[in-house]
Amino acid sequence: MSKESVMSKTMAIAFIVLTISAITGLITMVILYKTQIDPMNPTPRPTFPSTTTGPPPVMRLPKNLVPQRYKIFLQPHFYTKIIKEVNVTSPNQTLLFTGNSTVNFHCIQRTRTIYLNSMDLKVSEPQVKHQDKNEQIKVSGMIFHEDDSNFLEIQLKDALEAGGNYSLSLVFSGEVSESLYALYISTYSEGHPEYEGDPNTERFLVSTNLEPTGARSVFPCFDEPEMKAVFDVTIIHRLDTLALGNEDVAGSSIIDDWKYTRFHPTPRMSTYLFAFTVSEFTATPSKHERVLIETFARPDATKAGYTKYAANITGEILKFYEKFFEINYEQKTLDQIALPDLAPAAMENWGLITYEEGALLYEEGVSSLLHKESIATLIAHELAHQWFGNLVTMKWWNELWLNEGFATYMSFLAVDHVEPAFKMRETNVLNSLHSAFEADALASSHPLSPPQEDVQTSTEINEMFDAIVYNKGSAVLRMLADIVEERVFNKGIKMYLSNLKYENADQDDLWTYIQKAVDDDGGHTNVAKVMHPWTKQIGYPVININTENGQIYQTHFLFNDSSESSLWWHVPIRVMSEVSDSRLVWLETSNTETKDEFISKEGEWILANVNCTGYYRVNYNSLNWQRLLFQLESNRDLIPLMNRGQLVDDAFNLARAKLVDVTLALNSTRFLWNETAYLPWEAAVRNLEYFGLMFDRSEVYGPMQAGAYLREQVRGLYSFFKNYTDHSAVPDDHSLQQSQITAIHVACSNGLPECETMAKKMFADWMNGNGTNHIHPNLRSVIYCQAVAAGGEKEWEFAWNKLQSSTDTSEKDQLRQALSCSRKIWLLNRYLQYTLDSEKIRRMDVASTIYYVAKNVAGHALAWNFIRAHWAFIIVDEGQLVIEGVTSRFSTTFELQELERFARDYDLSYTARTVYQAIEQTRVNIQWVKENKDTILNWFEGETSS
Ligand SMILES: *[C@@H]1O[C@H](CO)[C@@H](O)[C@H](O)[C@H]1NC(C)=O
Ligand SMILES: *[C@@H]1O[C@H](CO)[C@@H](O)[C@H](O)[C@H]1NC(C)=O
Ligand SMILES: *[C@@H]1O[C@H](CO)[C@@H](O)[C@H](O)[C@H]1NC(C)=O
Ligand SMILES: *[C@@H]1O[C@H](CO)[C@@H](O)[C@H](O)[C@H]1NC(C)=O
Ligand SMILES: *[C@@H]1O[C@H](CO)[C@@H](O)[C@H](O)[C@H]1NC(C)=O
Ligand SMILES: [Zn+2]
Repeated sequence: MSKESVMSKTMAIAFIVLTISAITGLITMVILYKTQIDPMNPTPRPTFPSTTTGPPPVMRLPKNLVPQRYKIFLQPHFYTKIIKEVNVTSPNQTLLFTGNSTVNFHCIQRTRTIYLNSMDLKVSEPQVKHQDKNEQIKVSGMIFHEDDSNFLEIQLKDALEAGGNYSLSLVFSGEVSESLYALYISTYSEGHPEYEGDPNTERFLVSTNLEPTGARSVFPCFDEPEMKAVFDVTIIHRLDTLALGNEDVAGSSIIDDWKYTRFHPTPRMSTYLFAFTVSEFTATPSKHERVLIETFARPDATKAGYTKYAANITGEILKFYEKFFEINYEQKTLDQIALPDLAPAAMENWGLITYEEGALLYEEGVSSLLHKESIATLIAHELAHQWFGNLVTMKWWNELWLNEGFATYMSFLAVDHVEPAFKMRETNVLNSLHSAFEADALASSHPLSPPQEDVQTSTEINEMFDAIVYNKGSAVLRMLADIVEERVFNKGIKMYLSNLKYENADQDDLWTYIQKAVDDDGGHTNVAKVMHPWTKQIGYPVININTENGQIYQTHFLFNDSSESSLWWHVPIRVMSEVSDSRLVWLETSNTETKDEFISKEGEWILANVNCTGYYRVNYNSLNWQRLLFQLESNRDLIPLMNRGQLVDDAFNLARAKLVDVTLALNSTRFLWNETAYLPWEAAVRNLEYFGLMFDRSEVYGPMQAGAYLREQVRGLYSFFKNYTDHSAVPDDHSLQQSQITAIHVACSNGLPECETMAKKMFADWMNGNGTNHIHPNLRSVIYCQAVAAGGEKEWEFAWNKLQSSTDTSEKDQLRQALSCSRKIWLLNRYLQYTLDSEKIRRMDVASTIYYVAKNVAGHALAWNFIRAHWAFIIVDEGQLVIEGVTSRFSTTFELQELERFARDYDLSYTARTVYQAIEQTRVNIQWVKENKDTILNWFEGETSS
């Protein structure tokens, strides 16, 4: 098989993993691309000869037929359990599913062919009927297009006439997938978790996961978001199972040992929102006056109460949105289900939201309190989609941000409403902003809203699910809300939702309704004009301000200073000074302008982008930088909290783009000695991580770490929490809980003796304490890692045995990560070998385990050798994660050569893009280290000697 034919058989699946970075406690949204080989179709598909001239193949369905309603029967034949006893005839498991469908559609242009999408299905018995005349129309042929279009072409003897109503019936069958896409099977162990792997406790379930183009693999359909229809669904399943669908159950009957569960017809909706599950799960109800909300999970998990937290907040969040949008959730039921496997973390199917189990379940006394924050954020995101996405859907995938940007933006408001004590709004907003800034500073970024032609194939559609669409989308909405005022913005989005419900929208529709709200309010902003550069262009500006003469201009911010760009934006700048409140000032040209608001009076500082509402970075003349940094060190409270984090982040990134000297970035961390807030620390720790990666194998690392700078900086923060930490307790305030974890992480990993002693002692108490673990759940992750790092074989073995015997997902994840923290090379080597044995490390955990080892400086070289020795094994899934982990530290010419040789000699398959980006990044790193090493060494030496 040639490389090309392998690529044509691969299907990119984007999934979003909400990970809780166990070390920092910081919640990050990591976007990964997973490419999987289609297991159901092992024969290579014919590829189009590349020599053909002529137009590119058409991927979009013709618009001459408009689907209205599907009537669908689906029957998965699998068993939920297989009892294996010698004298019992046990059924063989089967992945077969069968079904039939009838779709009614309207013809608006005469045609003799029906095009729809179908993939990996055996389709037969096509029947076409003229509904108005009740006449059959003869089918003369059925052709499957073997290209990325997945067209099923049905040729007719007689033409369909414009204005007529027709139906198409098909019978089909397929195989339930073992990857996590389309209709897939998932397994778990029930009743006796200690017998995991015992066939008698193994249970099976099936679920759908169809966004963006999986529906065509479940039933033949018009699989485009704008081709909305009503779905009338019957699931045929085994008697001891429960079927859930988009709607509530209309009725059920039993025929020949099968249960027929028929659901009420759905509202008009897009195919990617279609969903059903068949399982033995049990439910936990939520409170809501109208809607029956139930949260389903494994019976063991329900019984143990792990669904309670999710159930508790879901009703509240739904009520919040109903009130906010002034539009009720109109269905009678809303189901949520915690699936043992799902990638992405969750999917917003209308009426049946699916979650990856670890992202929804909360275990009192075991889960970290901070885990609640990510559960609440995720539920709020998916519920927001019931309006943004489900009720009003983007016309085509190029404007996916209308779904994902809004769901992300709204989730910040909803979490702040249901859990005000979390004070998540600022943290969430800043994390999301930084994730977008990082991706959007590359010349290879893409516009928030690219042209339709650029997003055609399933692979191109999948590539849209990235940090830009989620996080830039949300940041740009927040900026617009600030420009027109939140009150006016909210009026606009209510009109957008109520006028376009059950329909599709593009971004011009959004601008139209917000404009209407602005006009009604007597405002003057031209919404479309202001917003176009932010959504149609890549990237974002850096605003350069000289406070001595008030001169101000913008340039396109790019990490690579050799890229040329003349892009510019309409920039709203909220500016304040030491003595004046914030005002909004516009910069609307690419030229240098002079504005009074930016002239500093009598030695005061000027701060632009107050509360980080603008999607841009800010650079100042060095005098103003010095004044701001002095303010941070003397009385930081005069600078708003979010800006305290942002100033640090801007300084480091401006240094990375060579716009300021690297010492300015380092100086911006000085005020931390006396800072307890999470956001500034988080910004500093994240940015210094890059320094750590570049220098932790060089002489700079001494003065930076052991030599004391960070150790001294963190001393105050560590002492602030000492009373809590020493008693394995945590403060009530959630953002202080975050800071406490940062304190332990930074203090222990930079060798603060009292921290190391504390971690070792707590871990030893657990080892010697007859199995009782007194470490507070919030602190477990960081303590485990630090204790394993400071310890030897005894600690490692203990953690390994606990990992093997624990039945708790979050405990297992924490231990699995902690095992990679060892500084003993032979232990790390043993750990890497374990990943080859699925009895020791589960297949789905292999990539992240290797990633953790590679991130540890002691395991880095080991991991790189291991990856090359076992590439064929590693590439089976999440190869990109492994590559990213190991190359993040590459900064020498030798490493560059090795990586280039790797790219040449190994079959990179779907990881090719990641490897080439890593080569590019390594070149940047080599250059950066060369230019900055001496300055940085001097700076740290100066700091530690003074
Ligand atoms: C299977 O065999 C065992 C022992 O031979 C017997 O006790 C048991 O009842 C049998 N089970 C069935 C279902 O026949
Ligand atoms: C089950 O599968 C095995 C091996 O594939 C086969 O030999 C056996 O005949 C099957 N049994 C039934 C009842 O289908
Ligand atoms: C579809 O399958 C169901 C259940 O087997 C059957 O009752 C129905 O008649 C079938 N419909 C069509 C159009 O084949
Ligand atoms: C759920 O809410 C109830 C009542 O507000 C509260 O007592 C309980 O602690 C909550 N449970 C969880 C897991 O948050
Ligand atoms: C900035 O945010 C803080 C806290 O959220 C708020 O109190 C303050 O009013 C905001 N400032 C402006 C100018 O919006
Ligand atoms: Zn989403």
